[in-house]
Amino acid sequence: MAGRIPQSFIDDLLGRVDIVDVIDAYTTLKKAGKNYKGLCPFHSEKTPSFSVEPDKQFYYCFGCGAGGNALGFLMNYENLDYVEAIEKLAAQVGMEVPREESSVAQQTREKNQALYDVLQQSARYYQAQLRQHPDKQRAIDYLKKRGLSGEIARDFALGYAPPGWSNLLEAVGTDESQKKALLNAGMLIENPDNKKHPLYDRFRDRIIYPIRDNRGRIIAFGGRVLGDDKPKYLNSPETPVFHKGEELYGLYEARKNTRKLERFLIVEGYMDVIALAQHDISYAVATLGTATSTNHLRRLFKLVPEVVFCFDGDNAGREAAWRALEQVLPLMEDGRTARFLFLPDGEDPDTQVRKVGNAAFSKQLGSATQLAEFFFQALGEKVDMNSLEGRARLGKMALPYIDKIPRGIYHQLILDQLGVITGVDPARLSAMGSTSPAPPTAMDTVSVRNRPPARKRQIDKSLCMKAVNLILLKPSIVATIGEEDELAEIEAPDIGLLLQVIALAKQHPASSTPELLGRIYATPLGSQLTQLLNREQITPTEGIEQEFREILAHLLEGHRRRQSHHSFLEEARQKLHSRRNEAPGGENGPE
Ligand code: UTP
Ligand code: MN
Repeated sequence: MAGRIPQSFIDDLLGRVDIVDVIDAYTTLKKAGKNYKGLCPFHSEKTPSFSVEPDKQFYYCFGCGAGGNALGFLMNYENLDYVEAIEKLAAQVGMEVPREESSVAQQTREKNQALYDVLQQSARYYQAQLRQHPDKQRAIDYLKKRGLSGEIARDFALGYAPPGWSNLLEAVGTDESQKKALLNAGMLIENPDNKKHPLYDRFRDRIIYPIRDNRGRIIAFGGRVLGDDKPKYLNSPETPVFHKGEELYGLYEARKNTRKLERFLIVEGYMDVIALAQHDISYAVATLGTATSTNHLRRLFKLVPEVVFCFDGDNAGREAAWRALEQVLPLMEDGRTARFLFLPDGEDPDTQVRKVGNAAFSKQLGSATQLAEFFFQALGEKVDMNSLEGRARLGKMALPYIDKIPRGIYHQLILDQLGVITGVDPARLSAMGSTSPAPPTAMDTVSVRNRPPARKRQIDKSLCMKAVNLILLKPSIVATIGEEDELAEIEAPDIGLLLQVIALAKQHPASSTPELLGRIYATPLGSQLTQLLNREQITPTEGIEQEFREILAHLLEGHRRRQSHHSFLEEARQKLHSRRNEAPGGENGPE
């Protein structure tokens, strides 16, 4: 399977296929000039903004910004990784994918393959015991007691490890190499001091939950006691094919059993994932006894725009929720949502969904707390919101966290909300924040990349750029803009760029996006804008005009507020001056 694919093969392959044929299998393309147009398969739209250029073997959607070559298309559309996309494309044209491999890589691959093989055999063995072992009834009764159907047990490949020290060893460890593979896969435990059982089964008398990777290969197991013994769960150790901190239990099953994934529900336990699936909520995933990391979340956000964290309503649950919030902040690009569902004390998703059923649980899910609300609520609990000091402290505590959010509208909105809550102008708050930047998370490349050198300017800049982007997507939205003079007063470098693009779009009101782009590329703005368009982004197709309006309103409002703040201070200063009062000026401004 693995092994490097020679670049020359990929070039050959791309030379052999025509992107028009590849994409035409997914969405109907019509010839338009030398290019092809169609409805974008990546977002829903009524008029085609999706364009395929046979000359460049490239596609681009003016609606959502998706773009790439034939491989990129398959990766995006079919949720494939690069290698999988190559394999799929090659299969379509009947080419065999060659592999070049170092001998070390080849050995590793063969070794790993041996582990995958015995893990698969082990899973089959455990599943078979659920059907045929003399003790099977205890296991079946246990699963039934927990409300699971045979169908769900099959979907999750649940099994039973019978009591005894060497069941698996004898069934799968049929020769030395099998035994060695079982040991390396974590299925056996070696203990030379134990004369009776120097090598014995790790999982004994437990319900078995196979853990699968993205491709559905079994990479590890969890095992639960049927009663109240300790430890309740045993898990496979780290092995060459299982890295506990990276995996999400239920992810493969969720992708397999959900027709269109829109969100993931992140829960804590194996049983939570399975019980939810039993109640037709098939998009739950669980970390394997570790906290949810930014890495986990990054994987989920590649597949869906929304995650909902599910926690106990008790203190430990709220603390865990806060840790999850810290992990998700760097990923909160515009268009993504994170919410928090707090369950009643003492319930977990398994007990809760069994108690209230799908409809009520889904309803609770629908009204889960928004990230911003939980954020301000949790911080608010730590200070006295009735005092000025308390609110200032909240502002100070909040900024390093807000700083982790990538620059964009969401970031700005949260900053605004902080302004409302503390009664301090967001621009001032954010200037305060830049003196004490948040320590970046090690893995958090997003926020490091987006960290602005000068915060205030960056905020306005990204809003202006966003507005420019919206105009490029839909030039006609500038038609009713009349606030150029006022916009020109705002002190932000990219306001100039925004005004130029507004002017250009106004001069050519009937331009299509490509025409407008063509005109702009002919100006010095060209390279700046190319960069902007190349950046990955999620832009809703509906409501472009509204979003544009909101950005303008926002820029203008900030400007007006600063103006009135200044004139208030000026007025106050004059009053004081005329009364020859010696008291210091009112730094805090109006409430
Ligand atoms: P829970 O105790 O909440 O598990 O632990 P659960 O799924 O609700 O268990 P039951 O079956 O309903 O009683 C959450 C997760 O923590 C890990 C497991 O991954 C478990 O699913 N865990 C828990 C362990 O690894 N070992 C343990 O002994 C307990
Ligand atoms: Mn439970």
